[in-house]
Amino acid sequence: MLTTDRLLLRDWTTDDLAPFADLNADPDVMRYFPAPLDRAASDALARRIRDRLTRSGWGLWAVEVADPGSELDGEFIGFTGLIRQDFAAHFTPAIEVGWRLRRAAWGHGYATEAARAVLHHGFVDRGFDEIVSMTARGNARSRAVMERLGMTRDPADDFDHPSVPADSDLVRHVLYRLPRPTWQAAAVARP
Ligand SMILES: CC(C)(COP(=O)(O)OP(=O)(O)OC[C@H]1O[C@@H](n2cnc3c(N)ncnc32)[C@H](O)[C@@H]1OP(=O)(O)O)[C@@H](O)C(=O)NCCC(=O)NCCS
Repeated sequence: MLTTDRLLLRDWTTDDLAPFADLNADPDVMRYFPAPLDRAASDALARRIRDRLTRSGWGLWAVEVADPGSELDGEFIGFTGLIRQDFAAHFTPAIEVGWRLRRAAWGHGYATEAARAVLHHGFVDRGFDEIVSMTARGNARSRAVMERLGMTRDPADDFDHPSVPADSDLVRHVLYRLPRPTWQAAAVARP
């Protein structure tokens, strides 16, 4: 479990399945994925995420608001965490930081706050040398999170995601990288 000023990154519970299905069915949340997920697909995804987290002790944590000042206090709002990516691409295998939050939880800084704790865990507790992040080119909100985290993009790293249909508008992806020394320098410089 990881904690931040306003969030709990924790194991998944059965109670998370319904709100997770709601966010996976929301076209706004799923705009940069090939399609929203139905309940069965959402439950199957949650099971895979939970199994991986249990097996290795790191992965995509369930994010719960722990902020008495917020109307979302105590609620599950989505996931943030680390994923090992092994699909065929010029930068894999790689460790990716990723996030998906329900619409009502956007605009509070929660994704960036959760991801900062995840990066600390990845670099310090797991000893990863580099953490990357990727998204469909047009996903400005996700790219803004990457940039707030100090990750940088080289257009030469852009790639076509192999699990997105080749004729889709979403196939072209950007890759952001954060090598450990860059993270360390920024973490030390931060007040
Ligand atoms: C990507 C995603 C997590 C980003 O959420 P987000 O709310 O834009 O990002 P953050 O949580 O970092 O919040 C930043 C915003 O909160 C605002 N904010 C409000 N209070 C804040 C506070 N106390 N601290 C920091 N930021 C605060 C910031 O000003 C910023 O607002 P802006 O978007 O108007 O500039 C969200 O859009 C999402 O879940 N999308 C769908 C899933 C997805 O596409 N995932 C990525 C696929 S690779």
